[in-house]
Amino acid sequence: MGELESLYEEIRNCTKCRLHQSRTNAVPGEGPENARIMFIGEAPGFHEDRQGRPFVGAAGHFLDELLASIGLKREEVYICNVIKCRPPGNRDPLKDEIEACIPYLDRQLEIIKPRLVVTLGRYSLARFLPSASITKVRGQPVKVGNFVCYPVLHPAAALHQPKWREILEEDFKRIPKILEDLDKLELRDESKARQLSLF
Ligand code: URA
Repeated sequence: MGELESLYEEIRNCTKCRLHQSRTNAVPGEGPENARIMFIGEAPGFHEDRQGRPFVGAAGHFLDELLASIGLKREEVYICNVIKCRPPGNRDPLKDEIEACIPYLDRQLEIIKPRLVVTLGRYSLARFLPSASITKVRGQPVKVGNFVCYPVLHPAAALHQPKWREILEEDFKRIPKILEDLDKLELRDESKARQLSLF
């Protein structure tokens, strides 16, 4: 079993917080192990809990549309959440639930090593920029460790709010350029490394 699959097994059997008692399925995440982009939401909702897959309800359909609008397919990107089990009634995740679950997200980041992490909403933003306000920093890429973090609004929050929807759609449109810039940087680093190895 690969590293990612065994992590999924661990998550499916997890009993570290109270949410395991009410879940139908844990929702580890999905996508290619070598994905360049990782999208991180908040927590599974009703449909995700039923299917064991992230973003398969209304917010997920909207996310699929947003991805399609920039020429990306869901199968090409990695999608997961800060917490892996549904909070009852879709309430906000509690601090101790986030603390119990965050090591799983950290291991996903270590295994997948994305170049770009798109945080969807305030919970995933808080993982990387704890004191940032989503309305202030959204749409602004920032380097965090080995990747670029790009905070955007949560699709569920923007779905029925025309103004936020427009903002989220605009923020998504900047993703291809961010990826292009990352490609250029990588090429530069590679040629620098090649030059260095000549000596
Ligand atoms: N909202 C989230 O944050 N994650 C999901 O998987 C679905 C809805």
